[in-house]
Amino acid sequence: MLNYSHLFRGTAFSSKSPKNLSILEDHLFCINEDGMIEKIVAPTDEEYQLLLNMYKDKNNFHQLSEGQYFLPGFVDLHVHAPQWAQSGTALDIPLFDWLNTYTFPIESKFSDLVFAKEVYEDVVSTLLANGTTTALYFATVHKEASVLLAEICAERGQRGLVGKVVMDDPEQTPVYYRDADTKTALKDTEEFILAVKELAKSVKQGVYPVVTPRFIPSCTSEGLQGLGELAAKHDTYIQSHCSESDWAHHYVQQQYGKNDAFALHDFGLLREKSVMAHCNFLDEEDADLFAKTGTAISHCPISNAYFANSVIPIAHFHKKGIEVGLGSDISGGFSPSLFDNIRQAVMSSRMLEDGVNPALPADDRGLPNARITVDEAFYFATAGGGESLSLPIGRLAENYVWDVQVIDTLVPSARIPLYDRNEHLHDIFQKILYLARPENIREVWVQGEKVHSRE
Ligand code: GUN
Ligand code: FE
Repeated sequence: MLNYSHLFRGTAFSSKSPKNLSILEDHLFCINEDGMIEKIVAPTDEEYQLLLNMYKDKNNFHQLSEGQYFLPGFVDLHVHAPQWAQSGTALDIPLFDWLNTYTFPIESKFSDLVFAKEVYEDVVSTLLANGTTTALYFATVHKEASVLLAEICAERGQRGLVGKVVMDDPEQTPVYYRDADTKTALKDTEEFILAVKELAKSVKQGVYPVVTPRFIPSCTSEGLQGLGELAAKHDTYIQSHCSESDWAHHYVQQQYGKNDAFALHDFGLLREKSVMAHCNFLDEEDADLFAKTGTAISHCPISNAYFANSVIPIAHFHKKGIEVGLGSDISGGFSPSLFDNIRQAVMSSRMLEDGVNPALPADDRGLPNARITVDEAFYFATAGGGESLSLPIGRLAENYVWDVQVIDTLVPSARIPLYDRNEHLHDIFQKILYLARPENIREVWVQGEKVHSRE
């Protein structure tokens, strides 16, 4: 079958595994009408010249220019869409105060659909312009505005997984920002799930409802139980904050006599389709439970530096068999860019590392083998996110979707310093990861459709 919707030609970088980057130099990528990569053809393959001759004069043939490269689109596993309105605000105060003084007031404004539309259109477009092709979103407690966020993802061409947030415990949540009661919270959640599933029928790139208890301290046990049942009934994704800060962690221990992981599991909230953000206080038993249930970790390195003073041993957790992706945690993390989160993930992991000089005794400062390379952080931002969501995304490989960012290293306002024409492609890849800015993201494609371009 040579009748493709698009044929792309260029050099691409994609993760096979955390330590194994594949570099596809000057390959052809054959995209079918479903937006999937049907075939990848190397210059040495017989078909290469034949395909080039067939497509080179057609307008569905796209050849990268000098200095341009394909990267898979990023998968952001933790974004609070309404908090985009306050990004960069008050990150120097503790989480509890930040939530009550800044975050709950701003989220409460999303009962106003005009305001919600303005912020949600902005955050979805901003994330696309930063190369994020799939995002796992917390919306707010408001059902209508949460459906609106899913509609905006659908319309802008982003693959959005969206949760109506549940906060049904009147003792732990402010009167101006909570669900009316537990029964209403569950009813609204079920109606939200059905509305997004209906919407999804006409969305090529997919939109998905996500069961979203904000975190254990904001929910009643009946609420959590009911949400676990709804997720099982409708086979949905689940997301929450798990063991983030010391006060949240201790609150759960006091209330339930166990850590977040086991408490969430008791309510049916840890399963193959669960993604838990932060996980700073995950102990070995909790981690085993994550691996056993197929629960993924959304690693939020910028946010964790601010609210949890913490670096989680991400390499260790991944080695235990837990799926790991990266999360911006807008606006606990100030940046909408997973490039920034890749950089912070690498830097934080190096600060956790002990035994830096193997010739000397370990110095009790951290953990051995904690550091990750930039290649590994890239894996978490792409393929790891895809595996966490069990979707064929995050890799440029056959039978994966064509979710791509075209990186232009020669943009005059953001030139990446490449002076050696024979520079090794792996070195160029690392320069891109450390230096790329939104200006370098020339085009973004989701499921075979162009959704962003910068002239
Ligand atoms: N814990 C509960 N809600 C939030 C939130 O909005 N952001 C972060 N970082 N942690 C939370
Ligand atoms: Fe968060």
